[in-house]
Amino acid sequence: MEKLLEVENLSVSYFTYAGEVQSVRGISFDVKKGKTTALVGESGCGKSVTAKSLIGLIEKPGKVKPESKIIYQGKELTGYTEKEWNTFRGKECSMVFQDALVSLNPTMKVGKQIAENLKNHESSLSKEEIYQKSLEMLKQTGVPDPEGCMNKYPHELSGGMRQRVMIACAMVTHPQLLIADEPTTALDVTIQAQIIALMEELQEKLGMSIIIITHDLGVVADMADEIIVMYAGEIVERGTARDIFYHQQHPYTWALLQSVPRIDDEDKTILNTIEGNIPDMIYPPKGCSFCTRCPYAMKICEEEKPKVTHITDEHSVACWLMDPRADRSGVPFGRTDA
Ligand SMILES: Nc1ncnc2c1ncn2[C@@H]1O[C@H](COP(=O)(O)OP(=O)(O)OP(=O)(O)O)[C@@H](O)[C@H]1O
Ligand SMILES: [Mg+2]
Repeated sequence: MEKLLEVENLSVSYFTYAGEVQSVRGISFDVKKGKTTALVGESGCGKSVTAKSLIGLIEKPGKVKPESKIIYQGKELTGYTEKEWNTFRGKECSMVFQDALVSLNPTMKVGKQIAENLKNHESSLSKEEIYQKSLEMLKQTGVPDPEGCMNKYPHELSGGMRQRVMIACAMVTHPQLLIADEPTTALDVTIQAQIIALMEELQEKLGMSIIIITHDLGVVADMADEIIVMYAGEIVERGTARDIFYHQQHPYTWALLQSVPRIDDEDKTILNTIEGNIPDMIYPPKGCSFCTRCPYAMKICEEEKPKVTHITDEHSVACWLMDPRADRSGVPFGRTDA
């Protein structure tokens, strides 16, 4: 399958007074054309920093480390100048965020904001063409009364409608890649489902790839072609939605899944959360980053980083439990097929 984006050994650090915060530590993954990749993991594991580095938005004191490679349609982006990133953003790749009120301009009407985005990238279009294309995009996001909506300010809209407007702003230039960072977290469950459905519908129509970021695996269960599980700045497991939901091998993935509320769960209030905290990213553990919280950690896990085991072309995991010599007695998941 054709790759749109290839990330190799991406490392991003923030050089603070307290020390080097190693937010992303040597991750590699790719995004296929027209497919959806989900980045999941709990707060602070490096999802947003990863996303920002893909569109040149890492700001000081942050730095994408020199060994990192971000290859988009065969082109290496890490050496891009600010000007090149500006062209890349919008034209090739757009991003939507959790809070539309923050990322939309409160002083500008919706129609104008969508139009501005388009104008920045399609300078040859007439005013009328820009208006029509902006309106057409807004229509496609399913807002009721799109003409009227063009004349409204963001604060005059509901949360779900604002999210649709933000998606229209992002998609009006028809980028190849849409990065959505927790796009539904602030919304209630019904509206969440509608926004996810909208993204899938636009993907079908316009054929873009999507990177969706979430800490809630339930959100991406139906949508993601591939799921990347991050922990403490690293990828601990990646696979198809099927691999991750039914054949997960990493204790962290397993624990994350235990904390997803199930539809058939009678008592929806009981959620297993994972005990403990993510490690201090200034002093990340020498061995496996998850070993301090892992119920199945062995001595080796503290000492040495686990190697990546490739179970299939799509499914891989970094865990010492994959070693054939590991004692797996009492481990309730994984390796049934290995
Ligand atoms: N500007 C910054 N300065 C210093 N450290 C930062 C900065 N931005 C991010 N970090 C650190 O990088 C790490 C990863 O942060 P990131 O925002 O990517 O987490 P996340 O996975 O998106 O979490 P969340 O689910 O809460 O959004 C965290 O330890 C965070 O404190
Ligand atoms: Mg984030």
